[in-house]
Amino acid sequence: AAVESAPAIVVGSGYGASVAALRLGQAGIRTLVLEMGRLWNTAGPDGKVFCNTANPDQRSMWFRTRSEAPLATFLWLDVVNKDISPYPGVLDRVHFANMSVFVGRGVGGGSLVNGSMAVTPLQSYFAEQFPTVDTAEMYATYFPRARAMLGVNTIDPAWFESTEWYKFSRVSRKHAQNTGLKTTFVPSVYDFGYMQREAAGTATKSALGQEVIYGNNFGKKSLDKTYLASALGTGNVTIHTLEKVTGISRASDGSWMLTADRIDYTGAVVETKQYSCTYLFLGGGSLGTSELLLRSRQSGTLPALDASVGAGWGPNGNTMLGRANHLWDTVGANQSTMPVMGIDDWANADNPVFAEIAPLPTGLEHWVSLYLAITKNPQRAKFSYGSGGLALDWSAAQSAVSSGMAKKLFDRINSANSTIYRYDLFGSPSRVFADDFTYHPLGGCVLGKATDNYGRVKGYSKLYVTDGSLIPGNIGVNPFVTITALAERTMARVLVEDTAP
Ligand code: FDA
Repeated sequence: AAVESAPAIVVGSGYGASVAALRLGQAGIRTLVLEMGRLWNTAGPDGKVFCNTANPDQRSMWFRTRSEAPLATFLWLDVVNKDISPYPGVLDRVHFANMSVFVGRGVGGGSLVNGSMAVTPLQSYFAEQFPTVDTAEMYATYFPRARAMLGVNTIDPAWFESTEWYKFSRVSRKHAQNTGLKTTFVPSVYDFGYMQREAAGTATKSALGQEVIYGNNFGKKSLDKTYLASALGTGNVTIHTLEKVTGISRASDGSWMLTADRIDYTGAVVETKQYSCTYLFLGGGSLGTSELLLRSRQSGTLPALDASVGAGWGPNGNTMLGRANHLWDTVGANQSTMPVMGIDDWANADNPVFAEIAPLPTGLEHWVSLYLAITKNPQRAKFSYGSGGLALDWSAAQSAVSSGMAKKLFDRINSANSTIYRYDLFGSPSRVFADDFTYHPLGGCVLGKATDNYGRVKGYSKLYVTDGSLIPGNIGVNPFVTITALAERTMARVLVEDTAP
C-alpha cells in the first residue's frame, strides 16, 4: 500500500493530542491526526448526535451488545443498562483484571463524555508529583493558557443557590458543613449561560436533559469546539477518523513509520494503512499511548524504550459511593448532569480526599447523595503487552486503599448527619464503594521517567508523549486541565528547540 506522509502525526484527539495539533498547525507544520473513534457531527434517526443516559442506544458505547454505565443498578433493579447493537459508540469501558477504565472514543476523546469539571490542582501537590517541573511557570503561564483555551467558566453563585437543578449539591454541602468540612465551587467547561437558558425553557436541554457520559448535544465546550476547531482553522491540520494506530517503527532515514487499521461501523478492519512522519506525537491517553509503546517494544520495533514505560499507573484514587438521605432531605427529581461542587479535605494530612458531589439524574426523587471521591492513594501498577493484548497488574487490595480513604471521610459525614450508605447502586447488595472502575486513568509513560522533563520519549528523538500517561497515577483533582497545561508546556518547548528549521 502507498505510504502517506506528513511532517507531523498526532495519535489520538483528546486533550494532549488536540494541544499538539493546534500548536503544530499554528507553527505552519502540516499535521495529520489519527483517531480511532468517529467524528460526532451527524444526527441519528432521532435528530440528535448523542443519546442520553436514560435511553442508551448503539451510540452510547464502543462495540457492545449492552451498555455498561458505572451505576449498575438502582434499588437493586437493573434499570440503568440496555441492550444495544455493536457500533463505534462514544464511551468505552476497558476491562482489566481488577480495574475497569472508562475512556472517550471519537474526535475530542474524553472531552466528549466527561463531566466538564475543569480543576487546577493544588500547587503544592502538583510540585510533589512533578518535582522536576518549574511549578511557578506552570501556574503563571501554562495553567492559565489551558483554562483560557478550554473555555473554563464558573456557575453564578446566586443562580446556584436558587435553582432546583442544584438542590442535590446544596444538600450535600449542608451535610459536609454539619461535619465541619469545607466545600468549594468547581469550574467547568459547560457553558452556564446555556444551562440557565435550559432551565428557563428557552434552550434545548442537554445538561438538564440527562446528557453526559454518552455525549452532550449542546452546552459543552468539548475539544472539537475549542482546540480542534482552532487546529483545523490553521489550514495545516487534517483529521482521519476510525483509524487505530497499531505499531510504530523507525525507518533507516530516521523518519517514523506507522501502521493503522481503518475500521468500518461494524468494527471490521477494511484497510491497513501506512504512514510516515518526521515528528510523532502520542496522545492516545494513558491506555492508548502505553499500549502503543509497549506493543512496539514487544514486536521489536522500539527496543530502546526506557524500562519504566508502562509503569507508574494509578486510577487517581477514584471511588464512587452513595449516601442515603433522610426523607425530609430531598435532593430533587431535577438534577443537572454537570457537577459544580466538591468537598475539599485534601489538606487533611491523615486522609487527603477531594470528593466531587455527583448528580444522579433519574427524573425521580431518590434521596441519594452520590460522590466521586479522589483519594491520595499512593499505590501504582504496571501495564504489560502480550498475546492477550494490554494487561494491567492493579489488584483489588490496591483499590481497597482508595475506598478505605473514602470510607474514613464519609463515615464522618454519615455520623454527623445520622445517615447511612446506599447499598443498592453498584450491583451486589454488599457493595457500597465502587472502587473497581476509574474515570481518571493516569500514568504509563511518566514525565521525567519514561520521557525527559518535557515529554520527549527516552531512547528516541522526535517522539513525544502529550497525554495523561505523563501523570504519575494521581493528581488530586479531575485531570484534564493538568493534561492540557502540561501539553502546552511540551509544545512551547518542542516548537522552539526541536522543529525549528
Ligand atoms: P483522551 O482519553 O482524552 O484521548 C485519547 C484519544 O485517543 C481517544 O479519542 C482515543 O479514541 C484515541 N486513541 C487511543 N489510542 C489510539 C490509537 N492507537 N490510535 C488512534 N486513536 C487512539 N476529567 C476532568 O478533568 N473533569 C471531569 O469532569 C471528568 N469527568 C470524566 C467523566 C467520564 C465519564 C470520563 C470517562 C472521564 C472523565 N474525566 C474528567 C477524565 C478526562 O476525560 C481524561 O482525563 C482525559 O480525557 C484524558 O485526556 P488524554 O489526552 O490523556 O486522552
